[in-house]
Amino acid sequence: MRKLLLPALAVLSFSLSCQSPCSQGACEVDQGAPPHAAMEDGISRPLAASADVLDIAQHHELPAAIVTDLPGVHNILNLSSNVVSGSEPENPEALKALADRGIKTLLSVDGKVPDAATAAKYGMRYVHIPIQYSGIDGPTMAEIAKTFRELEGPFFVHCFHGKHRGPAAAAVGRLVLDAIPRDQAIAEMHQWCGTSLKYQGLLETIAKDKVPGASETAKLDFDFPAAHAFDGFRGTMVPMARSWDEIKFARKRKWALNPEKPDIVPAQEALKLSEIFAQCLVQPDLPADTDEVRGWIKDGQKGTGDLARLLTNQTALEAKGVDWRMQAEDAYRLVSSSCKQCHLLYRD
Ligand code: HEC
Repeated sequence: MRKLLLPALAVLSFSLSCQSPCSQGACEVDQGAPPHAAMEDGISRPLAASADVLDIAQHHELPAAIVTDLPGVHNILNLSSNVVSGSEPENPEALKALADRGIKTLLSVDGKVPDAATAAKYGMRYVHIPIQYSGIDGPTMAEIAKTFRELEGPFFVHCFHGKHRGPAAAAVGRLVLDAIPRDQAIAEMHQWCGTSLKYQGLLETIAKDKVPGASETAKLDFDFPAAHAFDGFRGTMVPMARSWDEIKFARKRKWALNPEKPDIVPAQEALKLSEIFAQCLVQPDLPADTDEVRGWIKDGQKGTGDLARLLTNQTALEAKGVDWRMQAEDAYRLVSSSCKQCHLLYRD
């Protein structure tokens, strides 16, 4: 592994000397598997089927996490000189910042088609392999492993917020390139990157699933696509998540505009969301064709529609003595619970 580590170190300027846990004298982990770790095809063996991943993810001992940000990229963890995990780069400046720090390949596992053209302008290649919150299936695992083995590092791996799906894919990179043990990989996901224990499927995948060896991925016919577009129901979830994030931030600011993002108007985001919910309702591939599922979508549509009206008419409502803030809170809760209930049953 040293062979991989050293050249990468030279280019990864934001790396280990100041920010990584390695600076705290814990670098052994990056330099190959400890001698006791049982290996299979260069990958540490899966944990036993009975292993308690939630317990291991919380209690396997690691040095403290060092989380950093760059302009337009958040929750950055330098897992090793080969693999960096973080949030979706928000704009061209964010991509440039990653290129300036030596990243050569970007791997997005989010549903949104990434901006591969801008990345290419800065000399980076984008690969788009969307994964699910419930875990990584076998064929997708092979594609991700092949990407790490055959494309140039260092890799920046992201989903939307860089907390759950991205860190799971980054963990595949840690297994394949850095040969770390499985218990460490899931502990890094949870303790360093913030992967929630409620996404147990992602932790189970990294702890217990087979990661194909190099001879297997070499035979795989996969050309590292830069765009995997979704239509139908999942296609509606991608813009839904972005607009809902803006609503969440606006609520934290008590619905005041954000001076740093003057072009984002919460009332318009709410309106956009109610239109997305309307589209969602007519998709042929709903998670299930039941009244309950339709009910959640209608709740989302109603809540965001109410929110749009309340936010648009704040001044008039206040003049009439209407407590629009309380009503906005009710509308927000209705939408939030519709996302959560449906995800709990059909996504996670
Ligand atoms: C009626 C059910 C339902 C509702 C309501 C719903 N979702 Fe989803 N969502 C899903 C399912 C199912 C998936 C997984 C789709 C797949 O993997 O094919 C998903 C996927 C997602 C994803 C992952 C998209 C990607 O990158 O692949 C995000 C983010 C998301 N939803 C956000 C939201 C937000 C935010 C809300 C509420 C404002 C919401 N969803 C409301 C069912 C729902």
